[in-house]
Amino acid sequence: MPDLFSPLEVRGLALRNRIMMPPMASDVATETGEVTPRHLEHYLARARSQVALLVVEHTYVRRSGRLTRTQLGLHDDALVEGFRRLVEAIRPTGARLVLQLTHAGSATTAAVAEAVPEGPSAVLHPSGREVPRELTTADLAQIREEFAAAARRAVEAGFDGVEIHGAHGYLLNQFLSPLTNRRTDDYGGDLAGRSRFPLEVICRVRREVGPDFSLFYRFGADDGLPGGFPLAEAVELAPRLVEAGVDLLDVSGGLIGSRPAGAPPGYNVEAAAAVRRAVTVPVAVAGGITEPAFADSLIREGKTDLVAVGRALLRDPRWALRAARELGHPLEGTG
Ligand SMILES: Cc1cc2nc3c(=O)[nH]c(=O)nc-3n(C[C@H](O)[C@H](O)[C@H](O)COP(=O)(O)O)c2cc1C
Repeated sequence: MPDLFSPLEVRGLALRNRIMMPPMASDVATETGEVTPRHLEHYLARARSQVALLVVEHTYVRRSGRLTRTQLGLHDDALVEGFRRLVEAIRPTGARLVLQLTHAGSATTAAVAEAVPEGPSAVLHPSGREVPRELTTADLAQIREEFAAAARRAVEAGFDGVEIHGAHGYLLNQFLSPLTNRRTDDYGGDLAGRSRFPLEVICRVRREVGPDFSLFYRFGADDGLPGGFPLAEAVELAPRLVEAGVDLLDVSGGLIGSRPAGAPPGYNVEAAAAVRRAVTVPVAVAGGITEPAFADSLIREGKTDLVAVGRALLRDPRWALRAARELGHPLEGTG
C-alpha cells in the first residue's frame, strides 16, 4: 500500500514522493511577465526540502488573459530565458517542475488586461466586476494556438510538464460552467458543448508537446454554486479529459474558487476521490491539507495519488521535512 513517501511515476515522470506544491501566485513578476530573482528564491526554498513536484504559479498565455499586473507570462519567446534560469536553479534539488498556463477570462478587469475582458458569453462572472465580450470562434482558435505556443516555450525552458488551468473560475472553467457559458453555438449548451473548448485546448497542447511530455489539468470539479458545474458532470467529463491527452488531474474547486471561506480540512478530497474512480491516470488534490498524518491517510486510503499542500508550504517551506519526521520516514541528504 503506497503512503505519502512512496515514489510515483506519472507518464514517465519519476516523483520521489507524493507531496506537491500546488500553483500559488507569488505575483512578483515584472510588468512584462518576466521571472525575477524572487521567484527563484521562493521556489528553491520549497524544492530543497523534499517536495516531489512544484507547480509554478499561473502564467498567462495571452496579455488580455492576465489577472494581475505582476503575473508571470509566457506569451512571447523573449520570456523563455527567465523561465530557463528558474528550471536550472531547481533541477539540482531533484524536485520536478511543472508550469501552470492560464487565461483569466472574465475574471480580470480592462485596466489589467489592457483590453475588454474576454469570456465565453457577455455575462457577469459571479465574482467579476465587468461584463466581458463574447469570444468569437476565430478568437478561440487563436487562444488554442496561444496555449500551444506557451506550452512549446515551457518545453524549451526545460520544464518537466505543463498544467492547463481549468479551475477557480478562469476561462476554461467559465466554458464548463452554465453560469458563465450561455452560448448557443457548438461551444455551449450541454456538457459536450461546454467542454468542447477545454478539450480542444488540451488536444492542441498535447499535439504541440508530443506524447512524452507531462500534461496536467487543474480541474475545477465543482462550482459549488446553484446552477453551476456540478461534480456529477465532472465525473462524466474526467475520462474525456484523459482521452484528450491529460496525464494527471489536479482536482480543485470551480467558480467557488480555491479557498472557500469556512471550508473544512481536505475540502476537495471527496471530489478528487470521485474523479479518481472514473479515470486510470493519477489524481492530485489540494484544499485545507495541513497535517502530515492526514495527508498520509489520503494516500493510504486511495482517495488521491498526490497531496498538494499550499498555504502550509507558504508558511513553512520545510513542511515535507517535518512530515517525514512526524511519520517516521528516513530521508537522506536533505538540508
Ligand atoms: C497566495 C495563493 C495564490 C494562489 N495562486 C494560484 C494559482 O496561481 N493557480 C492555481 O491554480 N491556484 C492558486 N491558488 C490555490 C492553491 O493552489 C490551492 O488550491 C489552495 O491554496 C488550497 O490549498 P491549501 O489549503 O493547501 O492552501 C493560490 C492560493 C494561494 C493561497
